[in-house]
Amino acid sequence: MSSADIYRETILDYYRNPRNFGKMDNPDVDARDSNPLCGDEVEMQVRVGPGSTIEEIKFVGKGCAISVASASMLTELAKGKRLEWVKELSKDDVLRMLGNPELGPSRIKCALLGMKVLKSGVYGYLGAHYDDPDALGSTR
Ligand code: FES
Repeated sequence: MSSADIYRETILDYYRNPRNFGKMDNPDVDARDSNPLCGDEVEMQVRVGPGSTIEEIKFVGKGCAISVASASMLTELAKGKRLEWVKELSKDDVLRMLGNPELGPSRIKCALLGMKVLKSGVYGYLGAHYDDPDALGSTR
C-alpha cells in the first residue's frame, strides 16, 4: 500500500467514524460556516480551559469526506493547544495533516472549511475577551 493509499484510507476512516463529533453544553466558542461552493456546513465548539487552552472541542456538520475528515482531524490536533495556536494555523498545516493530497481549488476549500470555522470562532472569542485575562479560561 502506498502512502497516498494509507492517507486515503485514513481520510475515509475519519469520514465514517468522525472523532469528536457532536455538540457540547455551554461552549465558550461556537462558530459555524459553510463552503460557498457547495453550501455544506461545519460547526465547531470549544470549551476553553486554564491558560487559554482548548480543553474540549467538538464539531458537527455534513459535507464530503475530505471536509468531515479534515474537521475531525483538526479537533484531535487542537485539543490541549493554546488558542494562540489556532491563530498560527495555516493552510499548509491542514494539508500536511491530511497527508498532502493532490487537491484542486474547490477541494482545497473543502479541506480548509474546519480550519476557517475554528479560526473565526477563536478570533471572536479572543476579541470579546481581549481586555479580560481572567475570562481566557484561567478561572475554570
Ligand atoms: Fe461540500 Fe466538500 S463538497 S464541503
